[in-house]
Amino acid sequence: MLDLKLQHKMLHEEIENAISTVLHDAQFIMGPNVKQFESEAAKYLGVKHAISCNSGTDALHLALRACGIKEGDEVITTPFSFAATAEAICYVGATPVFVDIDPITYNITAEIIQNAITNKTRAILPVHIFGQVAEMNSICNLAQQNNLLIIEDCAQSFGASINQQQTGSFGDAGCFSFFPSKNLGCYGDGGLFTTNSDELAEQFTLLKNHGSKIRNLHEIVGWNSRLDELQAAILRIKLKHINTFNQQRIAVANRYTEMLDPLPLQTPKRITDQSHVFHQYTLLSKVRDAVDKQLSHQNIGHAIYYPMPLSKQKAFSGISRATDLTNTNLICNQCISLPMYPEMTELQIETVVNIIKQAHVD
Ligand SMILES: Cc1ncc(COP(=O)(O)O)c(C=O)c1O
Repeated sequence: MLDLKLQHKMLHEEIENAISTVLHDAQFIMGPNVKQFESEAAKYLGVKHAISCNSGTDALHLALRACGIKEGDEVITTPFSFAATAEAICYVGATPVFVDIDPITYNITAEIIQNAITNKTRAILPVHIFGQVAEMNSICNLAQQNNLLIIEDCAQSFGASINQQQTGSFGDAGCFSFFPSKNLGCYGDGGLFTTNSDELAEQFTLLKNHGSKIRNLHEIVGWNSRLDELQAAILRIKLKHINTFNQQRIAVANRYTEMLDPLPLQTPKRITDQSHVFHQYTLLSKVRDAVDKQLSHQNIGHAIYYPMPLSKQKAFSGISRATDLTNTNLICNQCISLPMYPEMTELQIETVVNIIKQAHVD
């Protein structure tokens, strides 16, 4: 599905030097790399504040908490995502309201969200799924008209943008994951919260560090959610290459789409080149299970993201609400994600495509 060793091979000297410096300096928590990574990430993303934390899940959880979302509130989100998106809403006691997704982009849209707004709705939590930017301009307009907050789940979209505006800079808050398989990934867990609001930044900073800004003074009950210095040092190096990595992903996606064009399946569509960074290349096929079987048979890494809408997961039963999810149900039955990483070769792409072709003939 992806080969993390290749990226390390390319960057190993730089990364191992950086790790070695951290080991020698022995400042493992809240050291200089963390501060520098935060300011470099803020600059790249075009936001006033970028605050690191322990994971994408923590970024979402503490963002919702910083925004004051609480029990009795509803947060409109997508059922077509990783569980963490909805878990974070549940952590603060609010109710995830799952709405249907667009059949082409697999993202929630303003038109669909609009019908689910009630007097309990406090926020919209769009996910830029698979690296494709959700239609943020209309979602932001809708939020403004209805006095709702926007928390973007950017776990899969580092570097995706529309008209030069990066994900994580459209809403009130953005939440990134640096899980190793993400398109900007570290060598363990890591996350980032972004905002242009001084107030939210201050609240998030308190929440992620035991409610404390000044040593031995605890203003609120907080959490321990810090990015460590080793991960920050690695991320600083990878951040310098993120545009190249994303461009390489886009090139792999373009080849897949060209080669798969004659087949009766739906390849990913996008608005502009930069609006999709292909964290995953996910297509829809009516013979998905045959494709899945053939790829497994040939030992080709792939995944079904996502086989079941979050609304049907036992974890969320009784604590969430769902509207009509016709598109989501259909997509869950037909989706399959192909191998995708920047270093993929033409031969590897061809091999995958030939297996998919065969599955459509059989
Ligand atoms: C859409 C989405 N949201 C949230 C997360 C959670 O991120 P993390 O694994 O860093 O906690 C993930 C990561 O798997 C994700 O894909």
